[in-house]
Amino acid sequence: MCIIIMKMKNYTNKNLISFKQVDEYDSSSVYAPLVNAMRSYKENPCTGFHIPGHNRGQGVLKSFSSLIGMDALSLDTTDEFDNLGTLFPSTGAIDEAQKLASDAFGSKRTFFLTGGSTIANLALAFALTRPNDKIAIGRNCHRSVLSGMIISGANPQWIMPKKLDDWAIYGALSPVELREKLENDSNISLVWVTNPTYEGVVSDIEAISRVCHEFDVPLIVDEAHGCLWNFSDVLPKPALKCGADAVVHSLHKTGGSMTQSSMLHISQNSRFDVHKVEHALKLLHTTSPSLLLLTSLDAARAYLSSRVGRSAIENAIDNALYFRERASKISGVKVLNALSNVAFDVTKIFLKVDGLSGKRLESILELDFSIEIESASDEGILILSNIGNTQDEFDVLLNALEKIASSNYPDLAYLEGIKFMPLTAPRVVMTPREAYFSKKERVKKEDSIGRICAEVIALCPPGISVLLPGELITKEHLPYLSDFCEIDVLVK
Ligand SMILES: Cc1ncc(COP(=O)(O)O)c(C=O)c1O
Repeated sequence: MCIIIMKMKNYTNKNLISFKQVDEYDSSSVYAPLVNAMRSYKENPCTGFHIPGHNRGQGVLKSFSSLIGMDALSLDTTDEFDNLGTLFPSTGAIDEAQKLASDAFGSKRTFFLTGGSTIANLALAFALTRPNDKIAIGRNCHRSVLSGMIISGANPQWIMPKKLDDWAIYGALSPVELREKLENDSNISLVWVTNPTYEGVVSDIEAISRVCHEFDVPLIVDEAHGCLWNFSDVLPKPALKCGADAVVHSLHKTGGSMTQSSMLHISQNSRFDVHKVEHALKLLHTTSPSLLLLTSLDAARAYLSSRVGRSAIENAIDNALYFRERASKISGVKVLNALSNVAFDVTKIFLKVDGLSGKRLESILELDFSIEIESASDEGILILSNIGNTQDEFDVLLNALEKIASSNYPDLAYLEGIKFMPLTAPRVVMTPREAYFSKKERVKKEDSIGRICAEVIALCPPGISVLLPGELITKEHLPYLSDFCEIDVLVK
């Protein structure tokens, strides 16, 4: 406790300096306390005898330090030193940065995380669900939600989102079906939905939230792919403004922070106990959070809130519209554009080329055109129009697509009979936790049909499950199991 007080005291002194530095260091005059504190840390090095042992880059392989740069290594520290604050409990510059993020997103409390949105989902499940609690969950949820169910022992009650069959992806979740579910089972104590889908399909979260409020059931929205929405009126309305109780944001996915950094928000009128969530995070989160990652969250929040950042989002939207219009005119290319009753985040562009599977198209783009896209599925590919992309880059992609669509690229024979996007409805025999901790054996996948699965099978991306512990394995699953020779099943 003593140490914490001292740290806070020291921090306060330095904080005065960092306030003065705002204009000097941040051209858009947006205050980023953690960025400032890290600058101060870098410019005032101490003689260090502590973790991390490389001591500001002195103890690492030369080719590694020249690769990533001594600047990055000298900033590789955790939350124990030098007036940077601590994450749990939240103090100093870290605390201030979290509060600014909370203001920017309009939450009651925002937690910075260095274990991705995975740790947010695990902590929410751990904090808010108990063994056998019935939780209504969209089946297109990320595997981290399922891992959470294994940890807590809760009993998922699946809601199947609509399917966009021509595109082999999930569509939106129906508020009407959710209402039926809640009407039919008064024991459902929580609703957990993913929005948008990985491919950018948007559910009506306002309507879903209204249903949840009507039945007084709290709502978690895994908005991992929607963190930009808060900063643009053109993009869909963020769940924090639609009545959700907790919202998960992978800032590192599209918000410009560094890989693995995420935020978990508890909304202003949340029915959840913030302290419960914080306790769960304390139990699950690393005790050595990377200050580089935390600082990148502060920087991302400041950037997205700034005039420059907002215009970067506008550019991303304009580029997406520019690309969508031109790509739709290329013969043989089909872009998933507005369909009746289907809303989209325009910055996520799903398209296909006649005669090619998504996986084949992805490999042609990569091997023949040096273009990396976000992901590929059975039917198409996912392209993200990001805050870091330029229109010129979209022209490069348009040229490549024109060439591919007018050539005779054959599809790959080995991909026949293989599927990637699991759209199968589960046949649940027992809860994920019950099956996970039951006696298991490993069998050849061909011999697993008719057996009960004992492991999570959900390949990333998008991390949507093919099979979960406790679900019956059927012939329908085989095309999705090409990466597996053997599977864990329950002993008969
Ligand atoms: C919807 C969704 N939620 C959560 C996660 C986990 O996020 P992270 O990779 O930041 O741990 C992902 C990852 O792809 C995701 O797509």
